[in-house]
Amino acid sequence: MNVSKVLISEEEIQTKLSEMGKQISDDYAGKDLLMVGVLKGAFIVMADLARHVTVPVEFDFMAVSSYGAATQTSGVVRILKDLDQEIAGRDVLIVEDIIDSGLTLSYLLKSLRVRRPASLELASLLVKKGIQSVPVDVRYTGFEIGPEFVVGYGLDYAGKYRNLPYVGVMEESSE
Ligand code: IMP
Ligand code: MG
Repeated sequence: MNVSKVLISEEEIQTKLSEMGKQISDDYAGKDLLMVGVLKGAFIVMADLARHVTVPVEFDFMAVSSYGAATQTSGVVRILKDLDQEIAGRDVLIVEDIIDSGLTLSYLLKSLRVRRPASLELASLLVKKGIQSVPVDVRYTGFEIGPEFVVGYGLDYAGKYRNLPYVGVMEESSE
């Protein structure tokens, strides 16, 4: 496997994240914002998006696993690391790298909702168009993409490529 095509450039991503950050800052003025990154994929989105948020904000992370080393969804979601803090009464914004089947997120939303946050919204850099097997209401979307498997900007293939500054499409190499 090698990466052969840039799907979304570094510059396009940064422009979009600054727009999302501005919108989030407007929407959460006067609220008690806690941004929750879903590891590992969201760590880069979270870091760059956070720098465009101008209202007071705290951060926490969760780690879940829905994929093995393969590129297909397993439908199995495990919480590998839970939040460090209580979220009752707080305005929680989940930050994701990508929403594919929506299984990971709908499971996460369900398990966080019972903890009674004041609000619970979702921001994702990428949303795969039309293929959510579970409908997920994404409040802040960066880009809608097709069904292709992408890497970079936090997204991995078998653990690699997360550090690419752009989102690229994986293609089979001919060798
Ligand atoms: P979902 O539960 O199918 O929505 O999958 C969500 C998770 O699957 C994401 O957080 C990613 O870790 C992974 N994933 C889905 N599509 C891709 C992709 O195109 N490239 C890399 N990882 C992906
Ligand atoms: Mg992930």
